Amino acid sequence: MTTRRAAIILAAGKSTRMKSVRSKVLHPVGGRPMIEWVTALARGAGVEKIVCVVGDGNADVRAAAEAQGLDIAVQEPQLGTGHAVQCAKEALAGFEGHVVVLYADTPLISGPTLDRVFEAFETHSMAVLGFEADDPAAYGRLVKSGADLHAIVEAKECSAEQLKITLCNSGVIAASAADLFSACDRVTNDNIKGEYYLTDIVEILRGDGKKATVVNASEAEVLGVNDRRDLASAEAAFQTVMRDAAMKSGVSLKHPETVFFSYDTVLEPDVAVDANVVFGPGVTVRRGAAIHAFSHIEGAEIGENANIGPFARLRPGTILAEDTKIGNFVETKKAIVGKGSKINHLSYVGDAELGADVNVGAGTITCNYDGYNKHKTTIKDGAFVGSNSSLVAPVTIGTGAFLGSGGVVTNDVPDDALALARSKQVNKEGWGARFRAVQQKLKAKKT
Ligand code: UD1
Ligand code: CA
Repeated sequence: MTTRRAAIILAAGKSTRMKSVRSKVLHPVGGRPMIEWVTALARGAGVEKIVCVVGDGNADVRAAAEAQGLDIAVQEPQLGTGHAVQCAKEALAGFEGHVVVLYADTPLISGPTLDRVFEAFETHSMAVLGFEADDPAAYGRLVKSGADLHAIVEAKECSAEQLKITLCNSGVIAASAADLFSACDRVTNDNIKGEYYLTDIVEILRGDGKKATVVNASEAEVLGVNDRRDLASAEAAFQTVMRDAAMKSGVSLKHPETVFFSYDTVLEPDVAVDANVVFGPGVTVRRGAAIHAFSHIEGAEIGENANIGPFARLRPGTILAEDTKIGNFVETKKAIVGKGSKINHLSYVGDAELGADVNVGAGTITCNYDGYNKHKTTIKDGAFVGSNSSLVAPVTIGTGAFLGSGGVVTNDVPDDALALARSKQVNKEGWGARFRAVQQKLKAKKT
């Protein structure tokens, strides 16, 4: 039987350096709030319980954590990471198994890395996720003795010799619930910062005859976010991972560094993405589709061999069947577009359902909003919508119908009909020549 697992997510910090009305851990990386990244990581490792430690001042974090189904422990005041973990003790009363401590502001740790932390229990009583820091600065240093971890020493407490150590503490620490809480009970604040350091548990448990080990991660993966610059670095690190994964899976990115993904972006093999494309949350692109430059796509499903952009904006609720074409300066929202249909130029199509092989001419607008409610436009198979049509919803264009260009269509159009919804053209013979003659005479009088 595998040992039961739980997680404690620390999120009680004040996050003053973000300079934001929103708590730090609600800021998104790859379109998903950091706290949700960490929750997903813990769930992926099969934890049965997650306790989120929040302060009195983090009402927004508490609400977000509750919405995610996490248990809440309040830490007030915040006396350090060791104290924070102790605050979760009650919420985990009766839990027997392994507990991992995660930080809500460290969003990019991968599932396989956390798996390795739990696997360390096969040989050790405690595991710490460490990394080689380019600039160890304020990180806690991991002091090893042989293959085992001897102690974690906070930078402020380090000797000159220890400061030279580049192997640092990511903050992720795992132990059995019994060991973790028994050690936290014994942590003191007798140190330079006057804080209860969680990191002291390594030495405390070693005193009980328990051994700790270090699991290695890359620095990019364990990057903690303290301010907006860190947030940008985390975003960049996330994008690098996503671009690599996309290309490895058979997606062509012509200029990878200019393509931006969200946490849930799905691109199937043989999708080709040109430069400067943004995928917001909720996008799936099927095989063979081409996304041309400067397209902005969110909440959309793009079918096989579809052709999108350049300069297309696909908004949530867009579902494009195979072989569809959405051209330049076209915006879609809640638009279901059938196989082979085309909206090639300069259009807004919202709250609409298009059948197969529909052609929507340049400059067509669905007038979906009357100031109070949204209404639906339906365009059936094979219909041809002339350029510069205004489709005043609710309205249905029948199968195989034609709309003459420039129409303001307010009534349903029957199947196979031609609808002309514009005033008749009047040609006045010779009018231009007469007009010029009059104007020239008037001007001559004035001078
Ligand atoms: C901590 C580690 C350090 C490690 C570094 C990695 C300790 C003592 N030090 O230092 O070894 O290299 O993280 O980034 O653990 N928090 C609370 N309550 C508190 C204090 C902190 O919930 O009372 C939360 C914060 O919101 C944050 C996390 O714990 O998510 C880390 O706290 P922080 O003060 O940033 O720790 P560091 O000093 O950076
Ligand atoms: Ca920190």
